Amino acid sequence: MTRQDQKLSTKPYKGTRDFYPEDMRLRNWLFNTMRKTARNFGYEEYDGPMLERFEVYAAKSGEELVNEQLYHFKDLGNRHVAIRPEMTPTVARMVAAVIHQIPRPIRWFSLPNLWRYERPQRGRLREHWQFNVDIFGLDTVLADFEIIDVAVSIMLSLGASSKEFQIRISNRRLLNHFLAEILTLNQEQRNAVCKAIDKREKITRDVYTHMLTESGLTPEKIDRLEKILDLDWNDAENHPAFESRGGKELHDLFSQLRRSGLDQYCKLDLSIVRGLDYYTGTVFEMYDLHPENRRALFGGGRYDDLVSMFCNDSLPGVGFGMGDVTIQDFLTTHRLLPDLPPPIEVFVALYDATCLEQSLTFSRQLREAGLRVTVQLEPMKLGKQYKQADQRNIPIVAIQGPDEIQAGTVTLKHMISGEQVVLPSDQSEATIRGWLKSV
Ligand code: HAM
Repeated sequence: MTRQDQKLSTKPYKGTRDFYPEDMRLRNWLFNTMRKTARNFGYEEYDGPMLERFEVYAAKSGEELVNEQLYHFKDLGNRHVAIRPEMTPTVARMVAAVIHQIPRPIRWFSLPNLWRYERPQRGRLREHWQFNVDIFGLDTVLADFEIIDVAVSIMLSLGASSKEFQIRISNRRLLNHFLAEILTLNQEQRNAVCKAIDKREKITRDVYTHMLTESGLTPEKIDRLEKILDLDWNDAENHPAFESRGGKELHDLFSQLRRSGLDQYCKLDLSIVRGLDYYTGTVFEMYDLHPENRRALFGGGRYDDLVSMFCNDSLPGVGFGMGDVTIQDFLTTHRLLPDLPPPIEVFVALYDATCLEQSLTFSRQLREAGLRVTVQLEPMKLGKQYKQADQRNIPIVAIQGPDEIQAGTVTLKHMISGEQVVLPSDQSEATIRGWLKSV
């Protein structure tokens, strides 16, 4: 074969997905469920551009994201641009641009597609969609509480229960206080320790201990660190680190979660640090509790200094990002994917070419009544038309041959039960709707 004869691959670019109509149906269901919950809490949808200036991420998104995962390039005008790997810097920029014009708190959500140059694996792709929910302008843990409330409500609206997921919560201020004031580590050592903690669950104990030692921790300090990371609420409040501002924030947050009955979904876990540099207070990650899928589904936290990157004012924010890949893995693992209603409800078959005008008119009437209808445009053996309707999972076939046209009737066939009726065409809608309820 010559090079010219070679066909291009039909595979999408590595780490990305094609969404065929059935995939789109699932995606739309998922996103609409998310949208509905966010709107129920009074959040409004926004969007931003795919490209941002490189600096928007360089300052605060974290070394791994910027150095290893960012798609960035010079555009034809020699501007250094990056494809968005996350939405938080974009929303912070957008908020900064209108900071004096809109009332606070600002409650916004979005569903952007994001790009990260990652090694594709379970739960990780190069393009994913991420549901972002953020609240700006509140300096109290009540905002952190509301964000966790939204996150829990989304999980419940997707059909999950408290046995299936758990939100693990920590506080960066508290950990920072412990590392700086109690273990007396400098900034560089603290950064290195946080990096090790972030990897704690993904690497062996030996590698982890080695990383801590390299960060400047003595065995005695490692021991003290491990003790605080493994604390649960019963012992936590007696720990000296809990006298700090971060400790008080955690205390207030958990008190509110308890009062609202949300504590059943939450757990203190001081080993949650999150990989992004901009978090300043509460941080959390949602975990799947299934033994085969014990992983973080999504995460978020409070970031008090991101908006001030773009303007002279500062405005605190807190929010989370929930990826579509991890959440679909979760729904599949727990058998929570729904049977979606058929995309096409009625197939209007064509008896022969002479009946085309009547088929078109009848289809139009059904569509005006709000039904989703496809019509056969070219003559074809009736048996073949029924077969196609069946293959496409269309539950109802309607047909008007010359006899029906003359009598003003239509023949309807229920493709699942096999039931067939002839009835006046202007009464067909009620029967179709009744049948659809049983599909
Ligand atoms: P993140 O932890 O980098 O946070 O990502 C949040 C979630 O997005 C992850 O838990 C995961 O569900 C999904 N995700 C991230 N990368 C990938 C990937 N390569 N493939 C599939 N899914 C992925 C953030 O991005 C923060 N900006 C979230 C946030 C919003 N914080 C406050 N507001």
